[in-house]
Amino acid sequence: MENKPLISVRNLEKLYYDEGGSTHALRGVSFDIHPGEFVAIMGPSGSGKSTLLHILSFLDRPTGGSYVFKGRDMDHLSDQDLALIRNKEMGFIFQSFNLLSRISVFDNVALPLIYEYDLKIEKRKKRVEQAIASVDISEKTYIEAGKLSGGQKQRVAIARALVNNPSVIFADEPTGNLDSKSGAQVMDILQSLHKEGNTIILVTHETYTAEFAHRLIHIKDGLVDSDVPIKKQRHLKEEFFK
Ligand SMILES: Nc1ncnc2c1ncn2[C@@H]1O[C@H](COP(=O)(O)OP(=O)(O)OP(=O)(O)O)[C@@H](O)[C@H]1O
Ligand SMILES: [Mg+2]
Repeated sequence: MENKPLISVRNLEKLYYDEGGSTHALRGVSFDIHPGEFVAIMGPSGSGKSTLLHILSFLDRPTGGSYVFKGRDMDHLSDQDLALIRNKEMGFIFQSFNLLSRISVFDNVALPLIYEYDLKIEKRKKRVEQAIASVDISEKTYIEAGKLSGGQKQRVAIARALVNNPSVIFADEPTGNLDSKSGAQVMDILQSLHKEGNTIILVTHETYTAEFAHRLIHIKDGLVDSDVPIKKQRHLKEEFFK
């Protein structure tokens, strides 16, 4: 593990304002995440997990505290900087897949490459095809994404998250809408990505999904309740893959 953290948050806060008043979704969250870590984030509904993931992945800004990503303080970055870093360095997998259903699998996976102006057409094609092959769905390359099953859609979403070779992959309940077999496939892919050296931050409700990670951060009422290494419980995983 390298010494420098990839992600460093200190006293992170998020206060949402709406007509009904305000919600203090994060109330001072601090931790470091190093390159190559596989971290699971768990906690009750409404505890602030998605809010935290949105901030970590530059989809939203905190209202207090600091966030340093790869040595750069988010506070000093413009929205345009954030969008560029996000596009280059981060991959996302959502519970609801978030694919464009009327375009092909190929075009969905190619989307994060739109800012890579220097990438030649042949190279771009190769990168996309490799990402699609890595989730074992090459036979659907030219099918409209909307015509796939949930499990297939999530594998396409993983390919899209990978195509940029990001520094970190964020997944917010990636198995939440899947049957157990497709969920197991998704976790299998995330596990191989981690073994290849990728950094993964996974929000989940399911203990057996969290077991794939090496560290568990428990969030409660907008605060870190516990942050502990996960001892590998092999039997649980074997149960899952049966
Ligand atoms: N855009 C928003 N505007 C106002 N309040 C919000 C917004 N997003 C989230 N909240 C509130 O912030 C709190 C934390 O929400 P968040 O979505 O982060 O929880 P969560 O831990 O991801 O929950 P779940 O497990 O149900 O997905 C909740 O009280 C929620 O209602
Ligand atoms: Mg959530």
